[in-house]
Amino acid sequence: TSPTRRVGGEVLPGFEPVRHLQPMLSLANARDLDELAAWDERVRRLLADEDVDGPPSYVTEPKIDGLAISLIYRDGVFERGATRGDGVVGEDVTANLRTVRSLPLRVGGDDPPALLEVRGEIYLPRAAFERINEDRLARGETVFMNPRNTAAGSIRQKDPRLTATRPLSLWCYAIGSVEGVRFDRHSEALAWLRERGFPVNPLTATHDGIDGAAAACRTLQGRREELPYETDGVVVKLDRLDLQALLGAVDRRPRWAVAFKFPATTRTTRLNDIGINVGRTGALNPFAELEPVEVGGVTVKLATLHNEEDITRKDIRIGDTVIVQRAGDVIPQVVGPVLEARTGAEQPFRMPTHCPACGTAVVKAEGDAKHRCPNAGCPSRGLEGIKHFVSRGAMDIEGLGEKLAQRLWELGLVRTPADLYALTVDQLLALEGFQQRSAENVAAAIDASRRRPFPHVLFGLGIPHVGFTTAQALARGFGSVDRLLAAGADDIAAVEGIGPIIAESVAVWFADPERVALVEALRQAGVQLELGADERPVEGPLSGRTLVITGTLESGSREAAKARVEALGGAVADAVSKRTDYLVAGAGGGSKRAKAEKLGVPILDEDAFERLLAGEEPVPAVAVDTTSDEPATG
Ligand code: IVH
Repeated sequence: TSPTRRVGGEVLPGFEPVRHLQPMLSLANARDLDELAAWDERVRRLLADEDVDGPPSYVTEPKIDGLAISLIYRDGVFERGATRGDGVVGEDVTANLRTVRSLPLRVGGDDPPALLEVRGEIYLPRAAFERINEDRLARGETVFMNPRNTAAGSIRQKDPRLTATRPLSLWCYAIGSVEGVRFDRHSEALAWLRERGFPVNPLTATHDGIDGAAAACRTLQGRREELPYETDGVVVKLDRLDLQALLGAVDRRPRWAVAFKFPATTRTTRLNDIGINVGRTGALNPFAELEPVEVGGVTVKLATLHNEEDITRKDIRIGDTVIVQRAGDVIPQVVGPVLEARTGAEQPFRMPTHCPACGTAVVKAEGDAKHRCPNAGCPSRGLEGIKHFVSRGAMDIEGLGEKLAQRLWELGLVRTPADLYALTVDQLLALEGFQQRSAENVAAAIDASRRRPFPHVLFGLGIPHVGFTTAQALARGFGSVDRLLAAGADDIAAVEGIGPIIAESVAVWFADPERVALVEALRQAGVQLELGADERPVEGPLSGRTLVITGTLESGSREAAKARVEALGGAVADAVSKRTDYLVAGAGGGSKRAKAEKLGVPILDEDAFERLLAGEEPVPAVAVDTTSDEPATG
């Protein structure tokens, strides 16, 4: 049973059919809390004549999005494992299951039962899925669609050595057949399994009545994105096994259990076309124009496609049926095409050779994933630059949104951010839809932006790679635009939170005479180009420490958390790097967490973060063992 002996050398000829000792059932669904309440009502009605005191006890368990398996142990030794198949007959995948490290090859403790059948879900952790896809891309192979399919494919590999390279894992959720032990409750069976060394999901809970179970469903749905594996719902089960037997199953679905389903985060739809948007840095950004589809409660018509390489790598073609993914509030993405749905009429995508906005030949630099329009005078770039300058995080000019920016641009009234400050009330009044009041309001908002603090101005300039946090770091590091203009890439890279690529980008940007002219014009217009006396960095207990904040914090917004860190002299950066001291992880925030785990950056949960702010050295919520090659699942 030693891990090194888990892989047999032989290649499986095929998979032997296995008849399950008792059928593997499926579950009825509850799509919302009302349907869950209706299920509970029926359970109570069916149990009305039974000796049940008060509301029935329910167990809630995350519904793992993997594949169901049945494991047979005889006299405590793992004998055979099978897939669900059609529920009656599955496939013998014992050799592959032996490579799953969390699968016990022996039942722990003394006196193992003569026969034990454990049921559970095999899954691939998200981080492992991402790593596998990165490796595949690096080798020029196609990517896998999702962790579930990858797990299912891995367990049905003909060569167990291949399965062994996939870090599959397991959660056990039931006992099927058993000889020699008796349980009264499902929760007892789970506790016994856990004692005997079987992995039982720690988010499993028992409740008196449906209200507690419903609350658990809501909580698990809220925590969905932060879990290191995929879940598609919550399974609610009647706890008492005698009552389970009494209710039985109808249509292969037990009446004593139900799956509370989360909204799908992926759907398929048709890719009608691929459009191109030319951003302020000249990047040609392809985007998907989709047949509208509802994903996770929101109608999606557009989705990002990143760049040409990504489209080619995933072999996405116009006219394809594609998988669209949306999680939380992130921008929808096209995961990939459904190859089986191809008709042959699909058209491969070609990046235009010329900028769709100005006709200039596009360039693609070595090491840059983006095609770019090199024309600094490109109307699309200019307009996107103005839109960015007036936007919320930058100069925040109220009443001047994307539409007005576009009109001012088209009329030739505004061609650089500095032109905004020369606009008059009369010019605005001449525009359709403007009255004296509204024109005066916009003029006043533009005027007010002259007093917007320097970091916002710096961010508003739209320097490639400079987000607001970076702009803040630069403003703190240099104090004024003049000192920044005089700095070289090395000086810039010396600032906390600024890497060499950003430093280079900033230096190159300020080296352009047109940018120098823009800065001068903004100075003439009276815009803040240095930090105010009260904005200079504070000295405090967190001086010299850099934190990254991700996910949703219960204590309030990330902005508020950032302000608290800065008030103590600390810095908050956008991305996790080797120089990050702590990652503060609220709910959600998968990729930053994975990066921190990879780099060994301590991860703080909200409690630990509060202790840090209170002046205590926190113990990281997740101790990262960088010496282990198992995926971190904290
Ligand atoms: S109980 C009779 N518990 O969901 C109950 N199933 O649609 C049968 N699943 O095929 C299953 N997590 O693959 C149960 N905690 C959990 C589960 C779970 C995932 C899957 C399982 C099953 C499917 C039922």
